[in-house]
Amino acid sequence: MPHAHIIGTGSSVPKRILTNSDLERIVDTSDKWIARRTGIKERRISSKAENESTADLGLQASLKALEMARISSDSLDMIAVGTVTPDRQFPGVACMIQKGLKAHRAYAFDVSAGCSGFLYALSMADNAIRVGSCKTALVVGAERLSSIVNWSDRSTCVLLADGAGAVVVKSRKKKGGILSAHMQSDGNLWDLLYSSYGTSFIPEVLHGLDVKPFHLKMEGNRLFKRAVESMTSIAGSALQHNSMSPEKVALLVPHQANIRIIRAVAKNLNIPMEKVYTNIHKYGNTSSASIPLALDEANRKGFVKKGDYILLVAFGAGLTWGSILVKWSMKGINENSNSG
Ligand code: ACO
Repeated sequence: MPHAHIIGTGSSVPKRILTNSDLERIVDTSDKWIARRTGIKERRISSKAENESTADLGLQASLKALEMARISSDSLDMIAVGTVTPDRQFPGVACMIQKGLKAHRAYAFDVSAGCSGFLYALSMADNAIRVGSCKTALVVGAERLSSIVNWSDRSTCVLLADGAGAVVVKSRKKKGGILSAHMQSDGNLWDLLYSSYGTSFIPEVLHGLDVKPFHLKMEGNRLFKRAVESMTSIAGSALQHNSMSPEKVALLVPHQANIRIIRAVAKNLNIPMEKVYTNIHKYGNTSSASIPLALDEANRKGFVKKGDYILLVAFGAGLTWGSILVKWSMKGINENSNSG
């Protein structure tokens, strides 16, 4: 059976930086509160003038991933995009990226699984490669959460932001690459985090009732506890499935929702923070984009090398959560060449 190897990574963030101090002028908050409770210092916010739609950001990240993988877009069989903020209800962001890449041979689709969207999409690419229906896939996480945030709600607007990350996944006979993928969801708790806009609610919006389009609602406190429990347990499933001790993990790349969640998960898993990649201080919570954005940064900064075990773990709206264990296939940035 073939194995799915990650052979390129890329990311893209909007130019505009919104700092905690900037937010102090928008809502009743402080840099101190945001930094201490979340770990976030600044985030990126997209702008139409800069051509930074969800698809634009996803396309830029994809081009970088393809460049690193040294493959042409013609060889892509699949483009899967995790997103909760598509530019339009339809067509999907993946089809717009397909157009931008001129990836004529691929089939392209979006995956809506909250902040776990990228891992869900990556696990679908892994499955397709394993059964032989796909040889090369592009998997993207791309978001413009700034478009659905209620900018007068201090409990959410300080957290969420925009960005994109992408990976190229290739079928190879050689063992390694994606070793396991565990995905779970619990629809009973969908109302802990949701967007109040949807086609069922359009009449209410039109009548000016208390349903504002595109506004994100979140019960942060209850989510916090569930995030720690679920991420710990599903990361544990990955280790157990692969009979692997936590010491063998070279890098944990978790969804960047809150530094306190990340610290708690790492502690529960017995993985020291030196082995946990975080960039939440610079980018905030970018939902589906957060893991590929962090993974690309870790890769380009030389935090990973060929043969390393990298554990990816996500949690988000749905509720959804997931983990993927990867045996890294690329040479690290400090190991001569970037693809192996
Ligand atoms: N600035 C200042 N004060 C604030 C702010 C703010 N931005 N936001 C809330 N507060 C206040 C509250 O009003 C409250 O005041 P009170 O005690 O007078 O009532 C106090 O701070 C404490 O509020 P809590 O909500 O209890 O604060 P908490 O420590 O739980 O932090 C947070 C809130 C950051 C949202 C946290 O609960 C969290 O990160 N939750 C998890 C979010 C998550 O994991 N989402 C899942 C992923 S979803 C996704 O990624 C899209």
